[in-house]
Amino acid sequence: MPVRNRLSELQPEIAAWRRALHEQPELLFDTRRTAAFVAERLRAFGCDEVAEGIGRTGVVGLIRGRSDSRGRVIGLRADMDALPIAEATGKPWASKVPGAMHACGHDGHTAMLLGAAKYLAETRAFDGTVAVIFQPAEEGGGGGREMVADGLMERFGIAEVYGMHNMPGLPVGSFAIRPGPFFAATDQFVISVTGRGGHAAKPHETVDPVVIAAQIVTALQTIASRSVDPVREVVVSVTSIESASKAFNVIPPSVEMKGTVRSLDEGVRALAGARLHAIAQGTAEALGGRAEVHWMPGYPVMVNDAAATEHAAEAARRVAGACAETPVIMGGEDFAYMLEARPGAYILVGNGDTAPIHHPEYDFDDDAIPAGASWWVELAEGRLGAA
Ligand code: NI
Repeated sequence: MPVRNRLSELQPEIAAWRRALHEQPELLFDTRRTAAFVAERLRAFGCDEVAEGIGRTGVVGLIRGRSDSRGRVIGLRADMDALPIAEATGKPWASKVPGAMHACGHDGHTAMLLGAAKYLAETRAFDGTVAVIFQPAEEGGGGGREMVADGLMERFGIAEVYGMHNMPGLPVGSFAIRPGPFFAATDQFVISVTGRGGHAAKPHETVDPVVIAAQIVTALQTIASRSVDPVREVVVSVTSIESASKAFNVIPPSVEMKGTVRSLDEGVRALAGARLHAIAQGTAEALGGRAEVHWMPGYPVMVNDAAATEHAAEAARRVAGACAETPVIMGGEDFAYMLEARPGAYILVGNGDTAPIHHPEYDFDDDAIPAGASWWVELAEGRLGAA
């Protein structure tokens, strides 16, 4: 079955919600207006239960099918938060909040899941219960972790859980997925290098932390090229080097470096972390200084369950006629926490030839709405034994 006719009919309404959300982006857990917008609509659709404040500002709506009992519960999750980027699309629905924008399409994700919720509440052609999950703080705050920690799965009896993200570069409304590790673990580090400052013309009287930092940056490249198996994925990026000195002729006493490590399995993750510590400390010591590493574990690897991936791909094939296999993505995704708690899968829906996500000219393509919302419906009805 292709795109549902009813969802094509609803497309203008869903796009209007999307644009209203786009105008009022909210960051991290501060998604109060968005959550209120979502909860108000879920109640208007006739959801059997609407719970707010899950994981601080998350919202969950329950839609029961034909049977009286709650039955089997499937979780469908969208993210609601925006990014601290100044929008440059020039669109009529561009952000009205200075310095914030929906540059990752979470406005589209929220609107598509609302559209699916409206359809499922109208039709209820399934046995069991659909839980629509709207989470805050995907972009760095761990809203998915907060909702899981707040008892999301147990409280609503969720047995499996699914997520979707738009993807520029894939044809609009097409789908792509992969089983197993899909999005990377995203750890962060700070390396504080301490030397001895002094006059830039008398380097022999100093221990230059800038030179030490430069050697550490170069040596860290050997984690990918010489420590990790070349057929496995790892990224080590130093993204900032700063000292207190703003002068041309002063060697500073210390330098602070920041960066990120991305990996797709726990073994590589542990190895990269251990090598980073050893390289930073050993290099600094060899050059007469000292390095301290502050390691900040981030989102875990996001792993698609094999069987759930097949269910998700089958729903995509019914909507779009095909579902591609996508390569791994070294970005992070905090849906990883929900997939640690329950089996499930995460799929990509094409956003066409747009600017990349997290770019000031990015915008979600409303033409993806019928396919995206239909996928949710196909998946829910398929997993809950629709007649
Ligand atoms: Ni995103």
